[in-house]
Amino acid sequence: MSADTDAIYMTTVSAGTNIAVIKYWGKADADFNTPLNDSVSVTLDQKDLRAVTTVAASNRFMSGGDRLWLNGVEDCGAATNRRFRACIDGVKALATDKTADDGTVVTKAMWQSMPIHVSSFNTFPTAAGLASSAAGYAALVAALADLMQAREEFPGQLSTIARQGSGSACRSLYGGFVAWRAGTKEAHWLDSKADCIQPESHWPEIRALILVVSDEKKDTSSTAGMSTSVATSALLNHRATVVVPERMTAMKAAWNAKDFETFGKITMQDSNQFHAVCLDTYPPIFYMNDISRSVIRIVTAYNAFHQSIRAAYTFDAGPNAVIYCLQEHSAEIGALMLHYYPAPDSNTNDYINNAEFATEAAAIALDPALLDACNRTGRRDPTVGDVRKMYYTQSGPGPLPVSDICNLDPQTGLNVYTPPPSK
Ligand code: DP6
Repeated sequence: MSADTDAIYMTTVSAGTNIAVIKYWGKADADFNTPLNDSVSVTLDQKDLRAVTTVAASNRFMSGGDRLWLNGVEDCGAATNRRFRACIDGVKALATDKTADDGTVVTKAMWQSMPIHVSSFNTFPTAAGLASSAAGYAALVAALADLMQAREEFPGQLSTIARQGSGSACRSLYGGFVAWRAGTKEAHWLDSKADCIQPESHWPEIRALILVVSDEKKDTSSTAGMSTSVATSALLNHRATVVVPERMTAMKAAWNAKDFETFGKITMQDSNQFHAVCLDTYPPIFYMNDISRSVIRIVTAYNAFHQSIRAAYTFDAGPNAVIYCLQEHSAEIGALMLHYYPAPDSNTNDYINNAEFATEAAAIALDPALLDACNRTGRRDPTVGDVRKMYYTQSGPGPLPVSDICNLDPQTGLNVYTPPPSK
């Protein structure tokens, strides 16, 4: 049976963010959006932070063309936006004939001619250095692939499409510990793709505590910052050619061996070097602020007190801190962070996303000697308001189908998502 020419075909998919422990910074080819160096990240659990994306295809959208709503607001320039186009057109090229729920067959050619509507929302602050674009573009590509039954011509091809939406998005197409291989011009950058090193089940004890220092939009976008760094930072070339290749090998071995000491040390060193490159950029770029730096000092004092690396900070293109640790130390680290960055009132439920963890952390009596050591090195008085929210999460899976949410009206294909009122 051939397909109803007016039907609306729709699907919803979610994807998690990822936080790199070897950072991507600097493009080898801006047109293909390929990186100067390999990078590696942890995909975070969608239960805590995710993008939820509904995509619809229909001939009924012919007059309006492709449309995108982000967090309930239409982005009117999307149809001609290069990144959005690369994802839509890239997945359409891989579409296959699909039997719809009503038994009709939508052919590859039909998918390719139908305009697309997209509505996506994030469950966390957008563009504040929490990799919202990574989750968003990964969910977009995964949803389009599901809708049009796209078939990869080689493993990882969908990640080469997500990469063109936002580089870091390619890593969110897989769960667990995921590398992005820089790739080569000789291979037309088809080898610039994500590669799952270990699924999330490999090291289930890994936790991430995220301190949202600011949910304002960042000053310098990653794309603009990278371009200035490539043009002006002498350190960046050394980082990409000498430091990162060695760190990638050591990092992969540490993850495979579940060696937190090495994992944590390289994570912190690589974050430091990324921000050193930002400072080495002319004019310099500042993503971290005084609050970010106070987190670094407290984590450093905490590790020194225990004479081992139990907490590892990392910062992306924004002031928010992500602290990786093992589950066995997470309550103590949570208690320490709650001590220096207290909740505005005794009700921590709005402040920490995970009530069980909040209760566990609040019940910890911190060793006075630890506080003394942190007070000396951390040079920070506990202050309410510097951190707006904390997320406690772990490593999670790649994109997942969503059956209980639909951001587009099945009858009209128009956005129905409205963001919850801000507190
Ligand atoms: C600091 O992936 O946002 O988070 O490819 O230009 O969209 P574009 O950049 P983006 O850069 C992320 C940079 C980083 C480090 C990382 O995630 O590896």
